Amino acid sequence: MKHRSKPLYLLILLMLAGPGFAQDPTIDRMIAAQCAQCHGTDGHATGDIDSIAGKETRDLYDKLIDMKEEDRAEDIMEHQAWGYTDEQLYRIARYYSTVAEDGDEDEEDEDEEDREDEDDD
Ligand code: HEC
Repeated sequence: MKHRSKPLYLLILLMLAGPGFAQDPTIDRMIAAQCAQCHGTDGHATGDIDSIAGKETRDLYDKLIDMKEEDRAEDIMEHQAWGYTDEQLYRIARYYSTVAEDGDEDEEDEDEEDREDEDDD
């Protein structure tokens, strides 16, 4: 996978570009990694916080934009969302939409868990 050796200038270039410019999932994952501190590895929360894995890109993105647009950030997430450009929020949303959902949210698809294990590269 030659993605991994992309130089830093490319990352900066991508951040300046509008949504949809580049599809590099490695960069999406790097930006999204910040969220894992509270929402768990790959968005699979273990404590009281909501899991964000497996949500629709659009839903997550809209939520994050709403949080960002608060005039006065009052809760934790509004502060989080403030720290990112719209482009970055889009990438984050896109990343978490590609991760398999937690097993305990609902029983829609029991196979999700198995597929998740094969996803590591
Ligand atoms: C410092 C801890 C922390 C970090 C880091 C964090 N979150 Fe959160 N997040 C929370 C808490 C606490 C809540 C629930 C309460 C709230 O809304 O403030 C939450 C709620 C959410 C929700 C709403 C869930 C729902 O179903 O309504 C979304 C979406 C979300 N976070 C996404 C993210 C994303 C994406 C990131 C990375 C940019 C992120 N969070 C980083 C603590 C955090």
